[in-house]
Amino acid sequence: MVAASAPGKVILFGEHAVVYGEPALAAAVDLRVRVTVEPASRDATTVNGHPLHEAHHAQISRAIDAISPKRFFTMTTDSQVQSGAGLGSSAALSVATVAALQELEGAFDRESAARVAYDVEWAAQGGRGSPTDTTASAAGGAVLVNGPVGGAGDSPLWEIRRGERSWRLSRFELPPLTLVIGNTRERGKTAVEVAKVGRFAARTGFAREIVRDIGKVTHGALASLAAGDLDGVGRAMDKDHNLLTILGVSTARLDACCEAARKVGALGAKLTGSGGGGSMIALAPPGDAEAAQRIAKALERQGATAHIVTPGAEGARVE
Ligand code: PMV
Repeated sequence: MVAASAPGKVILFGEHAVVYGEPALAAAVDLRVRVTVEPASRDATTVNGHPLHEAHHAQISRAIDAISPKRFFTMTTDSQVQSGAGLGSSAALSVATVAALQELEGAFDRESAARVAYDVEWAAQGGRGSPTDTTASAAGGAVLVNGPVGGAGDSPLWEIRRGERSWRLSRFELPPLTLVIGNTRERGKTAVEVAKVGRFAARTGFAREIVRDIGKVTHGALASLAAGDLDGVGRAMDKDHNLLTILGVSTARLDACCEAARKVGALGAKLTGSGGGGSMIALAPPGDAEAAQRIAKALERQGATAHIVTPGAEGARVE
């Protein structure tokens, strides 16, 4: 039997704007999806004791097609990442499944797991999305998408192409950060939010200006992170959240959670991922475990599930 796990992620800066070529920064967080695989004794694949269902187990079935077509497996999955929470659960499942199958075939490697998992996600999600989540989950650490070439902390990982589009992915060194994730438990739908911003941007120069402003905030945040200026990072998070609100992807609950976190001492707070529900992140003051606890409690009072995390977790691994 082979077991592999892969982390979920948060987007620190640049969601939505990355769809229009602006940079984005994502980081793996230690909420992991674990997958076990063993060759089946009969000609049937099962997942958690149920027969493999192509639609229901979209990522798993596509990962098998990509790596071990015509073979049958007994698989289990176990996730600490809630789905629909904007925390990259789908990408983490794809990456962990690909990693486990690659290991069984004797060839697990993070770059190829990131590439195959992106193909799997692309097919499972009906052809949309950037490779941000799958690369962050496979590589771990923090990942900069379309970042400034040769910029602070830039060390190239790989490039992923899809048709006309290409994404340059590089590793970014984060200073030590404590984030509190607040999962509002409202399900956000990435495709719906991306399409909504798409209509707004197609109709108004104003929306395109907001997208460029998000890009500028991300560039500023990268400089603050490289300088270890966490107050500056927090201010950039607040600005980013405001711009995302203008784009129409925040919700009353996300706004209330960000406000509640700031009130009890967060240096900044923003929604993370596609919005329309899902999760937000708040930056706790450095070295202040009590402040992180206070923020977590404040988020729970807003009805959210809170996780205190250090972004930059280890990527996909065989267990
Ligand atoms: O829903 P998430 O957390 O996977 O975030 C999507 C990020 C977007 O920028 C909105 C879309 C994308 O594919 O980059």
